[in-house]
Amino acid sequence: MEALSQLPLVIAIDGYSSCGKSTLAKQLAKELHYVFVDSGAMYRAVTLYFLENNIDLGDGQQVFHALVHINISFQNISGENTTFLNGRNVETEIRTLKVSETVSEVAAISAVRRQLVASQRAMIGKFGMIMDGRDIGTVVFPDADIKFFVTADPIIRAQRRFQELISNNQKADLQDVIFNLQHRDHIDTTRKDSPLKQADDAIVLDNSDFTIMEQFDFALSKIREKLQ
Ligand code: CDP
Repeated sequence: MEALSQLPLVIAIDGYSSCGKSTLAKQLAKELHYVFVDSGAMYRAVTLYFLENNIDLGDGQQVFHALVHINISFQNISGENTTFLNGRNVETEIRTLKVSETVSEVAAISAVRRQLVASQRAMIGKFGMIMDGRDIGTVVFPDADIKFFVTADPIIRAQRRFQELISNNQKADLQDVIFNLQHRDHIDTTRKDSPLKQADDAIVLDNSDFTIMEQFDFALSKIREKLQ
């Protein structure tokens, strides 16, 4: 879609855990030739660092000092957006259930959010950008040109995440996955700093009964409408 790719728009995609935000964001970024940023990967990378370095999440000093040593970057490797933590490829490790179990506690820490939100805002450049997360349309880019709020039935979300873990050869138990999604949704929606909530001007996308292509077509048609 050439015409759209010329416009440096910001598209924000927020929503619950495992509701297909990143899949949608990647497809749209490819179609529109936009930069894609997975903000959740950044919270996951910080969590991995904290776990590996035994950082006590309740100790503000430890958290503060640890954050100084964290550098997160993205590289396109064989067409895949890949997350690096201090120069190390951590794309697989950050997706494990171990990281998922702690990431929402880490993401509720204001010092962590301050640092990551500043980096996310600094990523805006000359090109269009699609960023997915929990607070993109409400806090990171409240003036985003287009905002989607993605949701889906919790059981369907858990089944999708379970399948994803299995296909990536990771050990997974459906009950653990269900518990983890409920746990993260609870923390993400109730934390004090930047809780997950629908922006007033967001387009709601409930993809419980959508295929990946149907979801993509829906989002693209909304983007076209908005630009007319
Ligand atoms: O892929 P999934 O939807 O399971 O999660 P994610 O996007 O990788 O995000 C992992 C966690 O990071 C979320 O459960 C939130 O706790 C946190 N997060 C956040 O607080 N703010 C964001 N903008 C993105 C993620």
